[in-house]
Amino acid sequence: MSEQREPIGVIGAGWVGLVTAACFAELGHPVIARDIVAEKVEALSRGEVAIHEPGLEDLLRRNAERLTFTTEMGELLDGARLLFVCVDTPPTYSGDADLSRVRAVVQELPEDGEHVLIMKSTVPAGTGESIRRDMPGLSYVSCPEFLKEGTAVADFMDPDRVVIGADAGDDDAADAVAALYRPLGGEILRTDVASAEMIKLASNAFLATKISFINEIANVCEEVGADVGQVAKGMGLDERIGSSFLRAGIGYGGSCFPKDVSALKMLAGNTGYHFQLLTAVIEVNELQKRRVVGKLEKHLGSLIGKRVALLGLAFKPDTDDMREASSLVLAARLQGEGAEVVAYDPVASERAAELLGSVEMATSAMEALEGADAAVLVTEWGEFAELDWAAAAERMTRPLLVDGRNYLDPKALADAGFEYEGIGQTVSAPRPATAT
Ligand code: UDX
Repeated sequence: MSEQREPIGVIGAGWVGLVTAACFAELGHPVIARDIVAEKVEALSRGEVAIHEPGLEDLLRRNAERLTFTTEMGELLDGARLLFVCVDTPPTYSGDADLSRVRAVVQELPEDGEHVLIMKSTVPAGTGESIRRDMPGLSYVSCPEFLKEGTAVADFMDPDRVVIGADAGDDDAADAVAALYRPLGGEILRTDVASAEMIKLASNAFLATKISFINEIANVCEEVGADVGQVAKGMGLDERIGSSFLRAGIGYGGSCFPKDVSALKMLAGNTGYHFQLLTAVIEVNELQKRRVVGKLEKHLGSLIGKRVALLGLAFKPDTDDMREASSLVLAARLQGEGAEVVAYDPVASERAAELLGSVEMATSAMEALEGADAAVLVTEWGEFAELDWAAAAERMTRPLLVDGRNYLDPKALADAGFEYEGIGQTVSAPRPATAT
């Protein structure tokens, strides 16, 4: 008989909570996940998952006998000592992180010296200290998540590093959390709580800075006739720089980068420090989405009455997450210029339709391209690389493509009859003779 693994409690069965619950169950732990939304708990108990995350549904199904979903905090507290808090901390109107859900959860926890609160939610540095001050009898460990949507299960199972922050008196609790992650390999870094909180915010802000930096380089490349793909490759070969997160495009989105960059900027601002660099990172990202409109106008002139097809709506491929997706800003800007917008996404169409009421939704890429004056590749879904672009060119009123992710091969698109415009590339195929 294999020994019984430490039971795990997960509070908040959203994206982070579910991935955490499923992965710990896969590692052999009994897991109780609690969410306040009864319908969600019922659906999860039936094995239904409302979010698109590769591998997650399989993992939940495979480990169903080790997973319990409940709305009751009492059941969670009875069943597990180690409690991962995975509720969301969305931005408020002031740009700070909204901690109301975190606070509501913390108030339900006992100061019994037994239960351990493990904070996975992204919170401003200083949050852990203030919770410990209010509840000195509660053990507190900060364990930020670094999972990427679309590869979250793989990221959990093979982490670059696991950061575990604990202050004086909570060493045993931190040891218990470290023991949970040890089988996964990856460096386990022990810090104080405030530093762990800062590592999470600083990591996301740095990655966002890399993206805004390469996007600005891309914009300069367009001016001087250089190719940002080659520039990024050449930069990335310097191991001090590294090659990741240097893909130029129409900006970052998602549930983390926009929120965390803003939260760090505001956290600094609240202490009286002006984090100038992040102000620029945010502004570059905002403007980057809008540059697409200028690129379309360069070819089409006024966009009034022009039909523009958006290919991909989710903030990145392999997810149906529409939070802070560049497509939302782009659709609104195009409509603002008088364009008629039609859109297609392989999995996010349903969620997107709720947010993009006046945008026509197509059920396939080809349907979206039918009769369009231009297309914009917004999200680099694999199926767009497989599309029969020559057939698409035939069906469009004007075969013009702005590749917002530099995803497709410009030469192949030109051969298929397209005028092609990327981000930070000089390649723009001559307008084919057949175009009107
Ligand atoms: C991010 C962090 O990577 C993860 O560690 C954190 O815990 C949560 O936030 P995620 O939001 O899932 O993960 O997506 P990520 O893959 O990091 O991409 C974020 C955005 O940046 C996407 O819109 C993506 O298209 C964009 N991006 C990424 C670029 O524009 N260029 C790049 O080179 C990389």
